[in-house]
Amino acid sequence: MAGKIREVKDAFGKVHQFAEGLEGVIATTTEICFIDGQAGKLMYRGIPIEQLAEHSTYEETSFFLLYGHLPTSRELGDFIRRLKSHRAVANEVFDIVRNLPKSAAPMSMLRTAISSLGHFDQDAEDDSLEKHYQRAEHLIAAFPTVAAGIQRIRKGLEPIAPDPELGHAANFLYMLNGERPTDYAARVMDVALILHAEHGFNASTFTARVIISTLSDMYSAVTGAIGSLKGPLHGGANERVMRMLMEIGSADRAEDIILQKLRNKDKIMGFGHRVYRALDPRAKILMQFSQKLAEQVGDTRWYDISKKIQEVMEREVGHKGIYPNVDFFSASLYYYLGIEVEMYTPIFAVSRVAGWTAHVVEQLKHNRIFRPRSVYLGPAHMDYVPLDQRTES
Ligand code: SDX
Repeated sequence: MAGKIREVKDAFGKVHQFAEGLEGVIATTTEICFIDGQAGKLMYRGIPIEQLAEHSTYEETSFFLLYGHLPTSRELGDFIRRLKSHRAVANEVFDIVRNLPKSAAPMSMLRTAISSLGHFDQDAEDDSLEKHYQRAEHLIAAFPTVAAGIQRIRKGLEPIAPDPELGHAANFLYMLNGERPTDYAARVMDVALILHAEHGFNASTFTARVIISTLSDMYSAVTGAIGSLKGPLHGGANERVMRMLMEIGSADRAEDIILQKLRNKDKIMGFGHRVYRALDPRAKILMQFSQKLAEQVGDTRWYDISKKIQEVMEREVGHKGIYPNVDFFSASLYYYLGIEVEMYTPIFAVSRVAGWTAHVVEQLKHNRIFRPRSVYLGPAHMDYVPLDQRTES
């Protein structure tokens, strides 16, 4: 796919062509995910996302992403038992969180807390593949506990211990809200976690692969990925979508406000994608759940505003291949699930840690350090000027 190919002359007069932002550039091979951006298709290791959303669970999908095959019932049972046994987090990690400024954003706290987990891994320097798989499982298990604990501490409350009776998604909602979710709410969260678990060489996953390509460690790779996901052009978009919906307030105000934003050349959060030139298949599924939840809670306002924005955007910029992405309908869906807006991006990380760690292991299996080049546009030549001969500009 021809991206934004730029042609520039470097400082020595040589002409170079390159794709800004590595658009369309292939960095290596993978067996984990395939995206057909033109057709709006997504598959994890060959299985269409629609089938996983309908039939799988986040636990099963995480195993599938990490180990490359659908687990047998024994394998799945053992995997779930291992995840449950590693949900608890060392108190020292929450002590670190308690000592952070309460005003710190949850994603910044998550970055610090997950980074600290590495210090409590006795075998942190053991770089065997077996240990990397174990670390991946520990991180998948612990992310919900850390993320939920951060939100509780930010609100001056104590973290809630994981409930071994509950599945991964239900337990996350329980630790976040302090009460067991309904079966339906747990299933909606489970599907949302499946949909956010993996997406090829997105910025945060690529970040993780670049870091591990130097043979650094998994904690560093995942911490870097959190930092990348935090950005509003990536995972941080979902929080901004909800704040935009709140700013608009009602469907009848949506058109004028969106048109004004487009005239201002503002990026509408939750729309557009580097790869998709059609509706993100994940957005389609999230939209259906948002509508169902809206009807269940009897407040369709946020869903209605979202649909109006989608209508205006498809009329105005659909021809440019700009459609809702995964962050658009997840915003109203999380709102209907009673989740605070500042937790939307941490939820993305709670899910994507499965994809990040699967890619870290895959990178290690056939590694070559990532080291791209750049076109030099600086001075072709300069001599050193002694300090006493430099003039104030
Ligand atoms: C995720 O990569 C992944 O797979 C990510 C992800 C995953 O699962 O990991 O799918 C998750 O990050 C989804 C994206 C979430 N981000 C947003 O919703 C933020 C808003 N979106 C845009 O910033 C943008 O669409 C990006 C960052 C997602 C993609 O940017 P590109 O590919 O660099 O596109 P671009 O900025 O070069 O825009 C191309 C054109 C421009 O118009 P022209 O200058 O050519 O006239 O499209 C326009 C842009 O102005 N455009 C938008 C727009 N996105 C692109 N115009 C209005 N609103 C938007 N959202």
